[in-house]
Amino acid sequence: LKFVCVSNDSVDEHMVWLIGLKNIFARQLPNMPREYIVRLIMDRNHKSVMVIRRNQVVGGITYRPYVSQKFGEIAFCAIMADEQVKGYGTRLMNHLKQHARDVDGLTHFLTYADNNAVGYFVKQGFTKEIFLDKERWHGYIKDYDGGILMECKIDPKLPYTD
Ligand code: ACO
Repeated sequence: LKFVCVSNDSVDEHMVWLIGLKNIFARQLPNMPREYIVRLIMDRNHKSVMVIRRNQVVGGITYRPYVSQKFGEIAFCAIMADEQVKGYGTRLMNHLKQHARDVDGLTHFLTYADNNAVGYFVKQGFTKEIFLDKERWHGYIKDYDGGILMECKIDPKLPYTD
């Protein structure tokens, strides 16, 4: 089992993983248009943290780091159906936090959570209350009707992974 963070860099293996992740998102997020998923996954401003087992993608999180603003926006998050509720989603989020803090220099995440995923995000430390100054994110992330805006502060020191 491994956790990787890749973007569209034309490395063959990365492209195969990104397509695998796209297929998981398309199935697990049926309200998201497939073209929109493909566009963001392949957009070079986005990165995807993935769980890989036996060279197959189990799930992942696609996000956009806004480095100047020190926050990231999580666009999509999913684990394949028969692997949910086994702890992969939590481990994935911990790897994302570690990477975002140590590589991108981020302090916060924002996401529009689907109603049915609010419980998962709360367990990952997200709140419905937004503490981040609006000027830091306003104009960077766009309003979206289909979810609830949630925030997570990344601890500056905590080791999130072992
Ligand atoms: N609602 C409430 N609690 C949940 C949910 C949920 N939908 N999913 C998991 N949990 C809980 C688990 O019970 C567990 O609680 P525990 O720590 O007390 O045991 C905890 O959250 C973590 O569970 P994991 O096993 O780590 O989570 P999992 O691997 O299942 O990943 C995820 C969670 C990503 C939400 C997965 O279930 C999934 O892919 N769901 C379908 C797609 C989806 O809804 N994605 C999020 C959409 S919003 C967005 O993408 C921005």
